Amino acid sequence: MRHVLRAQQFDRPLLNDLFRRTDELKRTLNNPIKRRGLDERHRGRVLFNVFYEPSTRTRMSFAAAAQHLGIKVVTTENAREFSSAIKGETLEDTIRVLCEYYPDVIVLRHYETGAAEQAARVSTVPIINAGDGRGQHPTQALLDLYTIHQALGRIDDLTVVIGGDLANGRTARSLSYLLTKFDRIRIVFVAPEQLRMHDDIKTYLTEKGTEYREEENLERALGEADVVYWTRIQRERLDDPATFERVHNRYMIGAVQLALMKPQAILMHPLPRTAEISCEVDQDPRAYYFRQAGNGMFIRMALLDWVIEGQTW
Ligand code: NCD
Repeated sequence: MRHVLRAQQFDRPLLNDLFRRTDELKRTLNNPIKRRGLDERHRGRVLFNVFYEPSTRTRMSFAAAAQHLGIKVVTTENAREFSSAIKGETLEDTIRVLCEYYPDVIVLRHYETGAAEQAARVSTVPIINAGDGRGQHPTQALLDLYTIHQALGRIDDLTVVIGGDLANGRTARSLSYLLTKFDRIRIVFVAPEQLRMHDDIKTYLTEKGTEYREEENLERALGEADVVYWTRIQRERLDDPATFERVHNRYMIGAVQLALMKPQAILMHPLPRTAEISCEVDQDPRAYYFRQAGNGMFIRMALLDWVIEGQTW
């Protein structure tokens, strides 16, 4: 069974396969004649979208990806309040019951770190981790990497500045895991003291031989970047709410900061953005975040294809 639980489970041959499928599915969907057959591909399959935390892109792009492939979608939003979780049911019991309804795949977003792995232990169908608390968001990392490849034509030999809330943001963590698969990567983590990347990731990078350093000053890091991966302060996850007021003004990218970036570099963001990237830079060709979000649906089509292909029935 092919679960998607953590970014580090993907190796380079599988990434190449997924990116090739993504390109192919993109071409097919953009071709008025070829796209007609696409929804025959997985006809009769069912996807359960089970979301315990808010989502726009992940939930909608999974639903759209599934529909384009002929997979029917059953969704629960805000499952933290609208499901039996509020009555005290464990995640394991919920998953056991959902499996009785013949889904082909369950896409799960949950507020607890490790929830996807917990679900996978009892599930009889593939689980796709759509974000687990402060843990990981592997499908986001896949679309991030695909976007880098699309924009720059390579993933090896890059300086990647990853900044913002690195203590609470799961997308930065998953991306860091995936970047270790590539050669000559230099990561610069930019974060305020209170929101620095956790040691588990730094230890992993060291073990894998991926170069990294930490920097508090955004302006100092921008000039060397091929990729700037900026993230939101995860206000809802902060242990001390006062941290937000203290740090958020220091980590904003506007025209002045963009001017420090190389002409060929790209500015990425998993979205949603709040004030950390100003709208004045949206029209700059280096601002890549909306195209990045668009890639999410195609990557998820390729992933669903791969996950379902692994089913024996
Ligand atoms: C992210 C998430 O949920 O982790 N959103 C997303 O899926 N693109 C980032 C965030 O919430 O800041």
